Amino acid sequence: MTKDNASPKETVTLINNSTGKSTEFPLLSGSVGPKVADIRSLYASQDIFTYDPGYMSTGSCKSAITYIDGDAGVLLHRGYAISDLAEHGDYLEVAYAILKGELPNTAQKAKFVKDITNHSMVHEQINFFFRGFRRDSHPMAVLCGVVGAMAAFYHDSIDINDPHHRMIASYRLIAKMPTVVAWTYKYAMGQPFIYPRNNLGYAENFLHMMFATPCEEYKVSPVLARAMDRILVLHADHEQNASTSTVRLAGSSGANPFACIAAGIASLWGPAHGGANEAVLAMLHEIGSVDRIPEYIAKAKDKDDPFRLMGFGHRVYKNYDPRAKIMQKTCHDVLNELGVHDEPLLKLAMELERIALSDPYFVERKLFPNVDFYSGIIFRAMGIPTSMFTSLFALARTVGWIAQWNEMLTDPDQKIGRPRQLYVGAPPRDYVPLHKRA
Ligand code: ACO
Repeated sequence: MTKDNASPKETVTLINNSTGKSTEFPLLSGSVGPKVADIRSLYASQDIFTYDPGYMSTGSCKSAITYIDGDAGVLLHRGYAISDLAEHGDYLEVAYAILKGELPNTAQKAKFVKDITNHSMVHEQINFFFRGFRRDSHPMAVLCGVVGAMAAFYHDSIDINDPHHRMIASYRLIAKMPTVVAWTYKYAMGQPFIYPRNNLGYAENFLHMMFATPCEEYKVSPVLARAMDRILVLHADHEQNASTSTVRLAGSSGANPFACIAAGIASLWGPAHGGANEAVLAMLHEIGSVDRIPEYIAKAKDKDDPFRLMGFGHRVYKNYDPRAKIMQKTCHDVLNELGVHDEPLLKLAMELERIALSDPYFVERKLFPNVDFYSGIIFRAMGIPTSMFTSLFALARTVGWIAQWNEMLTDPDQKIGRPRQLYVGAPPRDYVPLHKRA
């Protein structure tokens, strides 16, 4: 193997049938997964670009953080199966591994938890910054604005070429995100902001900042805190998805980390990505009752109808999303704890899942429930309003985004992201003076 992971023997050859010119490209091997043709010299050697909208066959970078085998339904972070991490680990332990490459030992974990805990308060002026937003703003709009504005409050840690600065900014983002997300909720509710408490765990502290008020003691249920922690683990990273690729692309120009994470939040907001958990609940409400499911299954299958079953399908998973299985169990734990196991929306969701999984349309297209299918029901049972769902996803994904951003900046192959295009516009033509135009 060369240092570029290329085996000298393994190549692919592209022959241009028009010119007869052939070029050999090295095949790169990852540690697991399919090989990758290194076509960086294609344009120089053949004077052609590749065309791959949506990156269906394109690896945009090298990464050692997350591995997905979509056909087998496998998700690994730093080599560890998501089921093991969700079952035995906690969010900050997983965050440490995602950020630094290895699970922490006892001393490393204690220090990481302490460092993150000590950064959870936000600059007091951010408190006033919130007040510029309308109270009925969508929380994702507020989150995007506040996180982007953090560059103005923490400009002492935005030298992207300084590893220490990068780590401070990473810790700040992971630590402060629960505070900012909880405050977007408090702001919308017109309730006072609740400050972080250093004696609480990460997920517990978040729930405290969401639901406590200054008027009375608020005790976070350990079952709900554990469920929230698990949801955060399940959303911590997911390889080169749209928002992560957005963070990398924004960061490739040298933009500061807060701006890059704000860009990731903006991308996550879309209903085809992080906005899907919100869309699932809206869809379940719209369907309303089990007897109307066939009508909606028919709509989802109708090519003339834009309706899609929200929470179903995934660009990479063509098997059961491994996170959805864990989420389904967590969902039952939460509903049991809250004594709402008869929740009609859950019954509706289960029946929808059952019917879709046996319908040839969904089976043939390998459309399985994804992670968002159950997370919305859990959040709803916890009392989190639908409009906050995607912000919770952003909170969890921040560690993945910032780890991928760090990894990109230390990659010797890193260049500004600058795709090319297949131009289909007008060919060169003469400028026509205004008075001569028809
Ligand atoms: N309902 C009905 N049909 C669907 C659905 C769905 N949810 N998803 C895909 N299909 C169909 C398509 O119409 C297409 O059918 P065709 O081959 O007959 O034309 C086929 O399945 C393939 O779909 P594509 O759109 O080509 O798949 P792609 O990989 O581009 O899209 C996506 C993936 C965006 C997730 C899609 O499945 C979808 O829109 N799902 C609903 C939204 C959702 O749940 N998003 C969450 C994604 S996970 C996450 O971000 C955490």
